[in-house]
Order: sequence, then structure tokens, then C-alpha cells
Amino acid sequence: MLTIAMPKGRIFEEAAALLREAGYKLPPEFDESRKLIIEVPEENMRFFLAKPMDVATYVEHGVADLGIAGKDVLLEEERDVYELIDLKISPCYLAVAGLPNTSIDEVAPKIATKYPSAASAYYRTKGEQVEIIKLNGSIELAPMIGLADRIVDIVSTGRTLKENGLVEYEKIVDITSRLIVNPVSYRMKDQEIGQLVSRLSEIISEKAV
Ligand code: PRP
Repeated sequence: MLTIAMPKGRIFEEAAALLREAGYKLPPEFDESRKLIIEVPEENMRFFLAKPMDVATYVEHGVADLGIAGKDVLLEEERDVYELIDLKISPCYLAVAGLPNTSIDEVAPKIATKYPSAASAYYRTKGEQVEIIKLNGSIELAPMIGLADRIVDIVSTGRTLKENGLVEYEKIVDITSRLIVNPVSYRMKDQEIGQLVSRLSEIISEKAV
């Protein structure tokens, strides 16, 4: 039996579609129900539906063998898990954005973000001192209402920035979703995991052509 932590929200649909394309028969309740644990005995699988930011936590603690997590979460959380494959789904990137035509020449400009650790690391590498303000969502509000000079956030279509009159200043890193594994599960369930990895890899390379 494999236990997989799935991220609820925007990655979920693409991740479920990829598993189905790889031949896993996931029941309709997988997409529709509000249950947080879904058993799929026919495939010898069990899924947890978790907050994206928590997926790597479940996998690190070994309550889930595997998880599907955005690279953004992995950069931010730095959990003790192995990254097995790039699923190449939900592409987006982490970027610095703010109000147009503004410079940040203060001593320690304020940076609002859902990714305090990744944002700190980025400015440390650049040798710039900043004040990080942690928010949990709607990050784009911060520069609009004067809470921060810049934001560090995910850009996918760019619509949120545009509709809120913000512009992108720097791209930090490209993001896609990854299949992650608990190191102990990886040793103990190597056959089942190997099979899942090869089925997923096959479908990913087919899609890349
Ligand atoms: C993410 C991100 C941006 C938006 C970017 O937020 O934080 O706000 O998506 O997508 P776009 O470039 O396609 O507009 P999410 O919807 O996950 O919600 P949040 O505000 O709770 O972070």
C-alpha cells in the first residue's frame, strides 16, 4: 500500500490527471468529495488531501510515503525528503514584484511574501538587507496599501499582478511540481515506488514530445 499526500488547490487537478494518464484508476469521488483521506483499494493506494505548504511535512514524518509538492514549497520548507521526479505540471515562477516605476533605495525595504525563507535567501545572495513581512495569501495587496515596497510571490499567468496594477521586477526561479518521497519508504517500498516512478516518467516524456 502506498500513501500519497496530494496538494489541494490549483495543482490538484493536473496531478490527478497525470496519475490517470499513467493508468491509475482514481474514482470520481477523488475530485468531488470533501473527504481528506481517499482509499483506492483497487490500486493499493491511499491519498491524503493536504494544504500544498504541508505536503512535504507529511512526507518527512513518514505518514505519507510520497507527495506531490511545488518546488516553491520544497525551497521554502527544506524538508528531509527526496525529490524523485519533475512532474512538469503547474509551471509558474517565483518573482519580485511591486508598484510600477518605484525604486527601493531605503536601508531595509519591506518585502511581503508567503515564502519568508526563500525570499531571505534570495536577498542574502544578492547582499541586500531587507525586512521580510510574512503573509499567508493575497500578497499583492501589500504594496497597494503601503505595507511593503516589494513582494516575492508566485506568478503563473501574470493576471493577478496585472489586474492589481503591479509589475514584475526580477524573476527568481522557475517552479514545477515534484514527486517527493520519504527516505525510509524509498528503501522499504522500493518496488512499488519504482513502478509508480516509471509509469509517471513514461507519461511525462511522452507528453514532452
Ligand atoms: C497565487 C500567487 C498569486 C497568484 C498568481 O495565489 O500567490 O497571487 O496565484 O497567479 P497568476 O499569475 O495566474 O495570476 P493563490 O491563488 O494560490 O492564492 P493566495 O493569494 O492565497 O496565495
